[in-house]
Amino acid sequence: MAKKQKQSTRKLLMVGSNAPFQFNEAYKSLRTNLEFLSATSNLKVILVTSSMPEEGKSNVAINLAQTLAANGKRVILVDGDLRKGMLSRYLHIPRNHPGLTNKFTGQAEWNDALIHYNKSSLLVLPTGPLPPNPSEMLSSKRMKAMFEELRGYADYIIIDTPPVPVVTDAAVVSGFSDGVILVVRPGVTLIQSAQLTKKNLEAVGATILGVVVNGFDVKKSAHKDGYYYSYSYNDYYNNEDENQPPKEKKA
Ligand SMILES: Nc1ncnc2c1ncn2[C@@H]1O[C@H](COP(=O)(O)OP(=O)(O)OP(=O)(O)O)[C@@H](O)[C@H]1O
Ligand SMILES: [Mg+2]
Repeated sequence: MAKKQKQSTRKLLMVGSNAPFQFNEAYKSLRTNLEFLSATSNLKVILVTSSMPEEGKSNVAINLAQTLAANGKRVILVDGDLRKGMLSRYLHIPRNHPGLTNKFTGQAEWNDALIHYNKSSLLVLPTGPLPPNPSEMLSSKRMKAMFEELRGYADYIIIDTPPVPVVTDAAVVSGFSDGVILVVRPGVTLIQSAQLTKKNLEAVGATILGVVVNGFDVKKSAHKDGYYYSYSYNDYYNNEDENQPPKEKKA
């Protein structure tokens, strides 16, 4: 008997008018911090990674790119996960759409591969066909040159990658990025794994810009003074009543 195929339950929790107020605000807060950093340093190419699978890297990369684009910035969101390529699925881009690997092999130009998302200033670069040798492709001189070229078309380039300790891809890509955002997720991330990832990235000379705490539940936290809230991304499902702005605290 044929094996029943496991259904993927992966979801994109997207910023926008249907998202909880605090979720949108947290991404705006991240945007403001990145804009401050880019005003004082050369920060354009930002890598999003983490230490373990399913901590929300792809969700964070999409939402960050969308939030930056909503402010009128020209943003290119790159699917640098050449092993899975989840961005196409999350953003409903046809699997056979040309992408990074087609450009790499000379079978497509940037114009063929880049897709305007929702008629906004956000351009998405899908993976293209998944290659058998992602690490070699990513670490090649040609790939580095392609990212140099891409810099000319954008204010920000956000790159989604696989987890650092699983494969070397994220560490390789950090070589041509200006900074790295590390995603951690309460209940998923192991502290030792996050610490090792930080060490590994620093060992290859990556600049770690900061940590995004994804799926942080303010209600379950002892810290209700607003500090953690403004730097974290609340779980959609645990905050159904948070479509409204938070009420002011009484003195
Ligand atoms: N803040 C959140 N609240 C609730 N669920 C979330 C949150 N962030 C991500 N998820 C869920 O976790 C799952 C994994 O998310 P995502 O694909 O973004 O992770 P990832 O780190 O990119 O995974 P991978 O390591 O496989 O690339 C998805 O089903 C997503 O909906
Ligand atoms: Mg992912």
